[in-house]
Amino acid sequence: MTRPMRLGIAGLGTVGASLARLIHDKREVFAMRTGRSIEIGGVCARDRDRDRGVDLSATAWFSDPVELAGQGEIDVFVELIGGAEGPAYEAVKAALNRGLPVVTANKALLAHHGVALAKLAQRRNTTIFFEAAVAGGIPIIKTMREALRGNSVSRVYGILNGTCNYILTRMEKEGLAFADCLADAQRLGYAEADPTFDVGGFDAAHKLAILTSLAFGCEIDVEAIFVEGISEVTAEDIRAAAELGYRVKLLAVAQRTESGIEQRVHPTMIPAHAALAQVDGVTNAVAVDSDLLGSILLAGPGAGGKATASAVLSDILDLAGGDATPTLGVAPAVLAPYKRARMRAHEGGYYIRLTVLDRVGAFASIARRMAENGISLESIVQRRAAGDSNDEIAPVILITHETTEAAVRRALDLVSKDGHLRGEPRMIRIETLD
Ligand code: HSE
Repeated sequence: MTRPMRLGIAGLGTVGASLARLIHDKREVFAMRTGRSIEIGGVCARDRDRDRGVDLSATAWFSDPVELAGQGEIDVFVELIGGAEGPAYEAVKAALNRGLPVVTANKALLAHHGVALAKLAQRRNTTIFFEAAVAGGIPIIKTMREALRGNSVSRVYGILNGTCNYILTRMEKEGLAFADCLADAQRLGYAEADPTFDVGGFDAAHKLAILTSLAFGCEIDVEAIFVEGISEVTAEDIRAAAELGYRVKLLAVAQRTESGIEQRVHPTMIPAHAALAQVDGVTNAVAVDSDLLGSILLAGPGAGGKATASAVLSDILDLAGGDATPTLGVAPAVLAPYKRARMRAHEGGYYIRLTVLDRVGAFASIARRMAENGISLESIVQRRAAGDSNDEIAPVILITHETTEAAVRRALDLVSKDGHLRGEPRMIRIETLD
């Protein structure tokens, strides 16, 4: 048998601890499958004394991940620290500079530095594997980097944040408050260290930026993504969506358009009968539209220790078997510059929630502003918010037919200036997913 492959694991949180246990518990299976035994050659974590369910007392401990990456007696550096800058970034560079392959779950790092790191990896004749960085346990990176190589992708989209999907599902099904659902997601180890990354849509944007590069063979440009999170979505929006035959999901979408590649993350109403609408809780789902395959949909656990460790393990076992696929699927020099599409040209229907001061002419004026901007209304419904005894204001929900985002924004701006509203209008895009 070939000599053991020694891992240096930086970060022993939910995922790292899960990985360490699995390396120990399944060592015979892994050795049999790869022809090489997998060992832990060094670890780095802040708290050495914490019980992680695995005995690491005989393992070399490092207090600095850069030291582990640069000097540890290891063959592969596994980065599970997180964060786009700081120790994770420095340690990954140190490992690559030594010519060591890197396995990482760090989407923020790749979204911000993926191309530079891919170039460094190529110069040092090594690679970065990152199955765990996108959609937790779903093997979407392998699928896009390898299985779909013969296809031309036109769109990749899906539910990429387990925490948001968990929150939206529980708000809808159990009528719970946003804050309680978020606290549970944190307790279950789904949320990022800073959960505003989840609820603000940034975590999904980091993942989308990576998928966009793999889908379209372009450089990663996370700054070009339109991002809107779920913190403004109310229980009332979710209820209204259900009554109209929709469900609210945080959708991440990258698609080729005539003006370039559109990338966006935002709450979306999707038809309740659509396959994506059935994806509940921490489950993620990614759909890929391509010329040869049409549409495929992959779904599975998007966060949590075991699911993410499963993806990290698949990379480790691939490396043990000699896989050296380039980081972003192709040589970095082949990646096209990212060309951003004009976001405002996006067409689709819209859900609009207004809090209208209930007086003569208000509705007529709103309808006129819509018509002036070429927006055709599918429905306009006045609702009474639960527990609201204020007769002066009326929550109103408008559903538009297909129109452009620019037209909706223009019309809502005028409606606001007309002085008929209390507070800001809320708008959620409707995606037909055809
Ligand atoms: N916080 C992330 C999520 C973890 O909720 O999906 C996986 O990246």
